[in-house]
Amino acid sequence: MEFKHIPILLEECLQGLKIKENGIYLDGTLGGAGHGYEIASRLGKGGILIGLDQDEEALEAAEHRLSGLKDKDIRLMHSNFADFENALFLTGITGLDGILLDLGISSYQIDNPERGFTYMKDAPLDMRMDQSRGKTAEFIVNTYSPAELARIFKQYGEEDFAREIARKIVSARNETPIKTSYQLNEIIDLAIPKKIRAGRKGHPAKQVYQALRIESNDELKVVEETLPKMAEYLNAGGRLCVITFHSLEDRIVKNIFRTLENPCTCPRDFPVCACGKQPLGKVITRKPIVPSKDEQEQNERSHSAKLRIFEKKG
Ligand SMILES: C[S@@+](CC[C@H](N)C(=O)[O-])C[C@H]1O[C@@H](n2cnc3c(N)ncnc32)[C@H](O)[C@@H]1O
Repeated sequence: MEFKHIPILLEECLQGLKIKENGIYLDGTLGGAGHGYEIASRLGKGGILIGLDQDEEALEAAEHRLSGLKDKDIRLMHSNFADFENALFLTGITGLDGILLDLGISSYQIDNPERGFTYMKDAPLDMRMDQSRGKTAEFIVNTYSPAELARIFKQYGEEDFAREIARKIVSARNETPIKTSYQLNEIIDLAIPKKIRAGRKGHPAKQVYQALRIESNDELKVVEETLPKMAEYLNAGGRLCVITFHSLEDRIVKNIFRTLENPCTCPRDFPVCACGKQPLGKVITRKPIVPSKDEQEQNERSHSAKLRIFEKKG
């Protein structure tokens, strides 16, 4: 299957990164290298692009896409961006001028039924971005307790019928293991009242699939734990650009950036700071940058995108 993915907020990211010819950049979610290609194209002598992706198929597509840029210093690695320190160590790099994270999954991953991210086609419930490790969605729906299932559907999917869906899943799996997306869709349909299902904007299973994907790939924890470390690795004036696609993730990025800008933990009424925690830099985007109307019309998948930018102090 051909790797198709249109890079989102491309110009905004390139501007946000303030690319220097001799800068060192990390694309932690390389995908098909839509953004990565444009970053690498702008590099000259001394410039380096390090590209990471936890999906080997994405990495292969990126390698192919970047193969034309023979005069550029590009280093690709199969890695979760949570392990970026290891990747930097292996490449001997100690500081970065810019980092891009374009979170979530690519169109290729959604459109390829074998990867199990889609509710639109009947396929095995996998949903791991890194197919060499981690829990499949099949494992989650067949082994988690009803309370755990309800929690992830509510917390990660903001699904109003989380408990009902969890209960139906458990009674269905007692009959026969749940292995495919169509089996799961049927169960979700049974749990959500018909009237509500009909009134929903997207597919009735959308929120449950989002929740399973987040759980399967431990997406929120990875972002929460890695962003503060990444900011530490920025050179003076270096920028961290993050694109999110749902409110849970956006909230995490917003809060981490705020804390990096204002880490002081002293009570508000303290006349002077006693905790001694110093700001690491400043938030560039008071409000997130969102795709223009044109971009939204041309690329439906860009609708929910939000870009936030943090700059390390000079
Ligand atoms: C939205 S796509 C990126 C698309 C890319 N910017 C482009 O324009 O082609 C997200 C990519 O990040 C990868 N990814 C998501 N979370 C990751 C993580 N924690 N570590 C490494 N790669 C990750 C996915 O496998 C996917 O290929």
